[in-house]
Amino acid sequence: MKIWKSKNIALVLIISFFCLDVFLAINYLRNGIGFRPKQNVSFSHKLHTKYKITCLFCHYQAETHSFANLPTTKTCMICHIALRTESQLLKNVIASYDSSIALGYQKVYDLPDYVRFSHSLHIRSGIDCATCHGFVDQMDSIYQVRNLTMGWCVDCHKNPENYLIPPRSISGIFYPNDPAFNQNKLQILLSSVPSNILQATFPIPKKIIKASVECSTCHN
Ligand code: HEC
Ligand code: HEC
Ligand code: HEC
Ligand code: HEC
Ligand code: HEC
Repeated sequence: MKIWKSKNIALVLIISFFCLDVFLAINYLRNGIGFRPKQNVSFSHKLHTKYKITCLFCHYQAETHSFANLPTTKTCMICHIALRTESQLLKNVIASYDSSIALGYQKVYDLPDYVRFSHSLHIRSGIDCATCHGFVDQMDSIYQVRNLTMGWCVDCHKNPENYLIPPRSISGIFYPNDPAFNQNKLQILLSSVPSNILQATFPIPKKIIKASVECSTCHN
């Protein structure tokens, strides 16, 4: 009798582990959190931002365009034409520069094509990259930290104050001082950011505004 019981328990355990796996797999396919594709170049955000190279130095279109660009090899070579040129890790980068064949990075963040999204609108409202991409400056290889679901977009549009991380100097986003911005709210938001990540000298963002949740805002 005892053996049967432990067999049953084992069976229940096996089945529940199987269900858990299926659940995790479905969840992963649905929301992509943790998605970390393999890249041709082992580019480390952590290493580069440690040298105070701002996000916008490489992804400069984020401030002015819907799409944030990925840097071309030419951007890498601004520094690497003279820096670490012998490194094995830079072999592909130098080969790409010599041959003019782009490096071809795998996309990490990807919305379905039927969704309208604009970086510049969000950046110019004083929303730091970390709000949507996490603390990339602490990541070696970058991975997805938000699920990019409609619920996520809409939740923030309704109550941005629960989500926003104001611009940090490492992002390179500049905002003129805006006296209308609520200083208390800023302090509350900042208290949720680990202090080693926070840079003391960021500019004051624009007043937090609610955004539209009309279907046509994000869908044609
Ligand atoms: C503004 C200057 C600058 C730019 C632009 C830049 N890097 Fe770097 N890179 C650095 C510095 C500084 C280091 C660290 C060197 C060190 O610590 O020895 C580094 C290190 C690296 C390393 C590690 C090399 C090793 O042997 O450890 C790789 C790989 C790398 N960069 C790739 C890239 C790629 C790819 C790009 C373009 C997308 C790029 N870098 C753009 C400054 C730059
Ligand atoms: C020196 C250049 C450089 C700097 C500075 C830099 N990045 Fe990147 N970034 C890259 C490169 C190259 C890739 C593509 C390779 C990869 O995904 O690792 C990339 C990829 C990304 C992606 C994923 C894009 C996709 O495919 O969906 C995000 C998000 C991103 N960076 C955000 C940031 C943020 C936020 C900062 C500032 C904390 C930053 N980057 C600073 C070069 C840079
Ligand atoms: C409000 C959220 C949000 C903010 C803030 C944000 N991003 Fe993004 N980012 C996204 C989404 C969503 C995508 C996927 C877009 C798509 O697939 O059309 C993305 C994609 C990217 C990509 C890949 C290229 C592209 O446009 O698809 C890069 C690079 C990137 N972001 C960098 C940045 C940087 C750098 C900042 C800060 C200056 C930033 N992002 C701020 C949400 C955001
Ligand atoms: C962290 C908060 C936040 C997140 C997350 C966010 N947004 Fe926004 N979004 C805003 C704010 C704030 C504005 C208002 C900008 C303005 O009017 O200056 C805005 C504006 C917009 C606009 C322009 C609206 C207009 O009036 O033209 C679009 C389109 C948009 N967001 C799409 C998206 C999509 C799609 C996502 C999810 C992939 C998303 N947003 C995620 C905060 C957010
Ligand atoms: C702030 C941006 C935003 C607004 C506003 C918005 N959506 Fe979406 N919607 C998204 C995003 C992002 C996706 C893709 C991610 C997902 O499937 O969750 C999406 C996906 C969808 C899908 C496909 C879902 C699926 O499972 O394939 C439908 C249908 C849809 N939206 C309908 C609507 C309707 C109806 C409204 C108005 C009541 C609306 N959306 C408002 C951002 C938005």
